Amino acid sequence: SPSDPDLVERARAAKEKLGDKVFVLGHHYQRDEVIQFADVTGDSFKLARDAAARPEAEYIVFCGVHFMAESADILTGDEQKVVLPDLAAGCSMADMATAEQVAECWDVLTEAGVAEQVVPVSYMNSSADIKAFTGRHGGTICTSSNAKRALEWAFEQGEKVLFLPDQHLGRNTAVRDMGMTLEDCVLYNPHKPNGGLTAEELRDAKMILWRGHCSVHGRFSVESVEDVRARIPGVNVLVHPECKHEVVAAADQVGSTEYIIKALEAAPAGSKWAIGTELNLVRRLANRFAAEDKEIVFLDKTVCFCSTMNRIDLPHLVWTLESLAEGNLVNRIQVDPETEKFAKLALERMLALP
Ligand code: 13P
Ligand code: SF4
Repeated sequence: SPSDPDLVERARAAKEKLGDKVFVLGHHYQRDEVIQFADVTGDSFKLARDAAARPEAEYIVFCGVHFMAESADILTGDEQKVVLPDLAAGCSMADMATAEQVAECWDVLTEAGVAEQVVPVSYMNSSADIKAFTGRHGGTICTSSNAKRALEWAFEQGEKVLFLPDQHLGRNTAVRDMGMTLEDCVLYNPHKPNGGLTAEELRDAKMILWRGHCSVHGRFSVESVEDVRARIPGVNVLVHPECKHEVVAAADQVGSTEYIIKALEAAPAGSKWAIGTELNLVRRLANRFAAEDKEIVFLDKTVCFCSTMNRIDLPHLVWTLESLAEGNLVNRIQVDPETEKFAKLALERMLALP
């Protein structure tokens, strides 16, 4: 959608007034009207790595969702203030694992006598509390671009992995990249007593997958892959690893948002692509690459935007930048020091992965 020229001008003016005092980060799923103001765009890994890239900036405006802003706060010093333009920009997947549920799960693993063998690996898409739990128990964070390396590392530390909160990324990485079978994975349901698992099932499992998923990527189906192959002969199907295992198995390639962009940059003219990830990114790529004669379609027309990513819109960004320019610190995201200490340990393990 075309941005309101008045708001564009106000955002530009406020950002100019702030100068080096502000550093704007934008995730690839952000709206066009917002992403145009980002100093750095990236996938979750790149944004975590680059959060501390401008130590002179007093404000880091994070155009993305809450867990990303928390991670940026954890990875930067106290003098840098992380701001989320709309505090309601959460992530339904991250909300599927609470600190209480995960503590209860650890009790279940302890009761079953397996906790000492378990290394937690938590997807970036989780709250700071879950990252702190991970750090306390010797585990690491991962993103969709380093999940394989994180699992390799974890299986050097222990015999089993508790992967949370995205069952699909966990299962896809275990089966596609680590040579495990579906039978090596069990699903821990936090809404059932003992996670719905017996002690024997926990003892036999290599991967204990938390029962969480992305409400956007979970909607792509094998039928949508079959339909697009029938409709567009020769199409390459490229999906995000948050998609279900059967969708990933039916696709030609799988990767993070940054991987998807690089694959399309490297693709030859005349190639055709169906992309299974968030719609803002797919539309932007379709427009960008149309000029190079690369045909890019959205894998499934019934899937829609990530509603929480979309909460960051131009009016919220203008309000944020103008407030900061006037000296009003709004919407600060600040993780408490005790949580930060252990969450940082887990994040730093990820950043140190080979
Ligand atoms: P990446 O950008 O790391 O691929 O993550 C996708 C996502 O769902 C972020 O919420
Ligand atoms: Fe969360 Fe999915 Fe939205 Fe990413 S796309 S922020 S995982 S709901």
